[in-house]
Amino acid sequence: MAKDTESREKPWQGRFTEPTDRFVEAFTASVQFDQRLYRHDINGSIAHAKMLAKCGIITASEAEQILDGLNRIADEIEAQEFNWSIALEDVHMNIESRLIELIGDTGKKLHTGRSRNDQVATDIRLYLREQIDLIDGELRRLQTALLDLADKEYATIMPGFTHLQPAQPVTFGHHLLAWQSMLARDTGRLADCRKRVNLMPLGSAALAGTSYPIDRQYTAALLGFDGITENSLDAVSDRDFAIEFAAFAALLQLHLSRISEELVLWNSAQFRFIDLPDSFCTGSSIMPQKKNPDVPELVRGKTGRVFGHLFSLLTLMKSQPLAYNKDNQEDKEPLFDIVDNVRGCLKVFCDMIPVIRPNRARMREAAGAGFSTATDLADYLVRKQVPFRDAHEIVGKAVAFCIDNALDLAEVPLEQLQRFCDRIDQDVYDVLTLEGSVNARNHPGGTAPAQVRQAIVNAREQLRAGQ
Ligand code: ARG
Repeated sequence: MAKDTESREKPWQGRFTEPTDRFVEAFTASVQFDQRLYRHDINGSIAHAKMLAKCGIITASEAEQILDGLNRIADEIEAQEFNWSIALEDVHMNIESRLIELIGDTGKKLHTGRSRNDQVATDIRLYLREQIDLIDGELRRLQTALLDLADKEYATIMPGFTHLQPAQPVTFGHHLLAWQSMLARDTGRLADCRKRVNLMPLGSAALAGTSYPIDRQYTAALLGFDGITENSLDAVSDRDFAIEFAAFAALLQLHLSRISEELVLWNSAQFRFIDLPDSFCTGSSIMPQKKNPDVPELVRGKTGRVFGHLFSLLTLMKSQPLAYNKDNQEDKEPLFDIVDNVRGCLKVFCDMIPVIRPNRARMREAAGAGFSTATDLADYLVRKQVPFRDAHEIVGKAVAFCIDNALDLAEVPLEQLQRFCDRIDQDVYDVLTLEGSVNARNHPGGTAPAQVRQAIVNAREQLRAGQ
């Protein structure tokens, strides 16, 4: 937390005759939250100082002193010995001011050919790139956890739903692969976003570029950027990359929320498809019998704030004229909160998926209820040359008969079925079984166990290939 120490000399004080209002000082400061960027700020400054020396703008010995001072500052911050000052507004001026304290006048040369505008844009990109790589790793870990579970459950039969009504039997492995497919798209979106994040704004200076003979490519290479931004006015003001990341995060959370909703339903006394381990649930302070699925509920709940941050960022940008405006300082808290929440939700999901206990018997029982093989009977009739619309009608009547007589389709005697359509033979019972139904959907993208196994192999291959 920043300490409100004595009002320290501000680097921009030259043209001012009155001190900043105390409240305005706190109101305009960002150091309370942007100190999170200290490592990226220092790394950016180190690369900038090296470039200044390489281009002869400062001497090699000056650059060395600056590097030395910056490394000492990093140590101080990590040891929590750094005195953050609200009077010094933000992470950039806090660090620069300490550098001057530590190494004297040479420290004043660091800001040559640079502005806080290109500096902060660079810091956020460095921060976000690092976070993107961590999130990418977690997304892959989660996909692997889903594939591992799908491997065990590739032939487990459960009801597939539309409108939350039992529709057709599917395999649990197939359902898990549906979740994995969502996350694979998120992984692709994240990789695409990274391309636009990983470009360096330094050299744009305040807005128009700088009159010093700088070498932007050199600084970019030192910082691991893929390239440099094209236009200085755009580079200091652009936050599209953060918005893109927020949009990625919103979609990822949307997917985690959908999965959470299913886990909550499945864990309920009504469904009993899965059992979440005690370690991922909590109890009730009043109802002793309760074991609540708090983890998926909370992931579902946190989705709202991530959606909200996406909108904050969009709204933050929508009316800004070129180039930098102080509005942009408001980009950080939403971005940081998105990162924290996405990482938290991914971690808890990665840990929870492998320990979910599926209740295979209960899933199978539910798949058998609700006439989920009715479509299979219609398809059977079509194979016996009955037009599909007529087949649909015939099966509808058979289902009505079953409801009246409390029977499942597979329990209706052959003579009775033949009253609905005389083309029905003994072999009808093969398609009325759950196994017959799922095995029949045997094409890429279908639910047949053989296809699920192949889809798992394909997905693992794509993950390995880094896609
Ligand atoms: N704290 C500022 C931000 O987060 C840094 C840039 C300030 N630039 C300026 N011209 N006031 O955006």
